[in-house]
Order: sequence, then structure tokens, then C-alpha cells
Amino acid sequence: MSDVSSLPWAAAPAAGNAIGLYAKWTPALDDKIEAALQRLRDASIQHGDGLVQSSSLGVEDMVITDLIARTQLPIDISTLDTGKLHAETLALIPRIRERYGRDVAVFKPLAEAVVTFVKREGDDAMYKSIELRKACCGLRKMEPLGRMLTGRSAWVTGLRREQSGARGDVGFDEDDGQGRRKISPIADWTWAEVWAYVQKFDVPYNPLHDQFMPSIGCAPCTRAIAVGEDFRAGRWWWEDSSKECGLHAKA
Ligand code: ADX
Ligand code: SF4
Repeated sequence: MSDVSSLPWAAAPAAGNAIGLYAKWTPALDDKIEAALQRLRDASIQHGDGLVQSSSLGVEDMVITDLIARTQLPIDISTLDTGKLHAETLALIPRIRERYGRDVAVFKPLAEAVVTFVKREGDDAMYKSIELRKACCGLRKMEPLGRMLTGRSAWVTGLRREQSGARGDVGFDEDDGQGRRKISPIADWTWAEVWAYVQKFDVPYNPLHDQFMPSIGCAPCTRAIAVGEDFRAGRWWWEDSSKECGLHAKA
């Protein structure tokens, strides 16, 4: 008898197909796409070079990059490479260049700060306490975010109200608490609408979304979710916390 592990169904990793699972075109979506584009156009006119897209390379941000690139809006695209991202996430940077001819500016933590922290607290510090986890987010995300936003008056995010209770009142254009505007053009989109857009416009996306990771952050702090779990249950899953890293302290 042949080895079952060589059979195609046995060899396949536990993966779904995010488009097949989630995409659902809604009657409202055409209008929502036009409204999101209008928000990006307005922000671009208002802020000019002062506007930057902050992309986690997650699916919401890929939708926004697609909106920006298809309509040739002069909005820079940036990402924070914490040094702990999945290879699948980083692979989207060259894909964006190939697909849209756009470069993604990459902001990394200060090497010395990372080395000192890891030497002192260990590479698994994030699991030891909320304070250490926040310290890791501080040096790998918050400090580079500060550099990403230097000289900018506004940033574009992929926040959606549906993502969590804490994000339920995210505005399309709001104060970020640090003197800048935060533009979240698809704040009112549903998960099904995000995927319907991906399907219609063939948007490149992180294959980890096919492995039941709706919300993707750093590799050590992201796991797949089970049926019925919250959208963000796979982020910092061991913590009984608000599940925010500080990028969106007000959200
Ligand atoms: S987080 O605060 O929990 O990490 P989440 O992953 O939900 O945030 O992403 C929300 C928005 O924050 C993204 O749409 C994006 O605008 C921004 N963001 C999150 N992570 C990054 C990152 N690594 N680089 C740039 N922007 C990011
Ligand atoms: Fe560190 Fe995890 Fe925060 Fe990434 S999400 S910066 S690995 S604690």
C-alpha cells in the first residue's frame, strides 16, 4: 500500500482559500469603493507630500495600495519591518513593485536597540510579560513609526470598524493624538467586501490569509484562528489585554 503522506490531499497544508471563503460582493460596494477613492483623493490634495500610506502588507492595506496605484494617486507607501515579520509578508514588497511599479519604503528598528534588548531580555521576551511585549513593540514598531511619520501631516491606515470593539468608532479622517490626521478610507468595509474587492481587482495578498490568519502581525505574535474566534484572537493570543501594540493607541 502506498504511503498516505504522498497523496495530494494528505500532503496539502491546512489551508483554505480566503477569496472562496470570504468574498461576497454587496450592493453597497461600488459606492463604498468610490467613497474610499474620494477620501484618498481629498487627503492627497489636502496634505500633498505630507501624506503617507502606512501598510502592514495585510489584505486591507493591499486593497488601499491597489486603490492608490490604479488611480495613480501620488501617495507614498511605507511599511515597518520589525525584523520579526513572516517571509510571506516581506515577499509582498517586490510583488507591489512588479504589479504596480511602486516602491515601498521600509522602516526598520535601530539595530543597536534590538541587540541590547534581546541580549538583556531574550528573543522570547514578548511572552514573559505585557511590559516586555510592549517594550518590544516600542522599539520594533513605535520608534520606526516616528521616523516614518517625520515630516508628514497625515497617514493612511487600513483600520476597519469591524476589526474589534475598540475600533468600532474609527473615523475616516481623525486626529491621531500626535498632531497628525489619520485617514482610514475603508473603515466602513466588511471583511466580505475586502475580499470581494481582492477578487474583482486581482489584488496580490499574503498567502497566510489562506491559512486562517485574518490579522497578521509579527510571526511570534500571530497565530491562526479557529472557527468562531474573534478576528484579532490570533494576535498576542496569550495575553488578556486590549490586543493593541500602540500604533493605534486611540483606536
Ligand atoms: S496592530 O496595531 O494590531 O499591529 P493591525 O495589524 O491591525 O495593527 O493594522 C492596522 C493598521 O496599522 C494597518 O492597516 C496599517 O495601516 C497599520 N500597521 C500595522 N502594522 C504595520 C506595519 N508593520 N507597518 C506599517 N503599518 C502598519
Ligand atoms: Fe515584538 Fe511581537 Fe510587538 Fe512584533 S508584535 S514588535 S515581535 S512584541
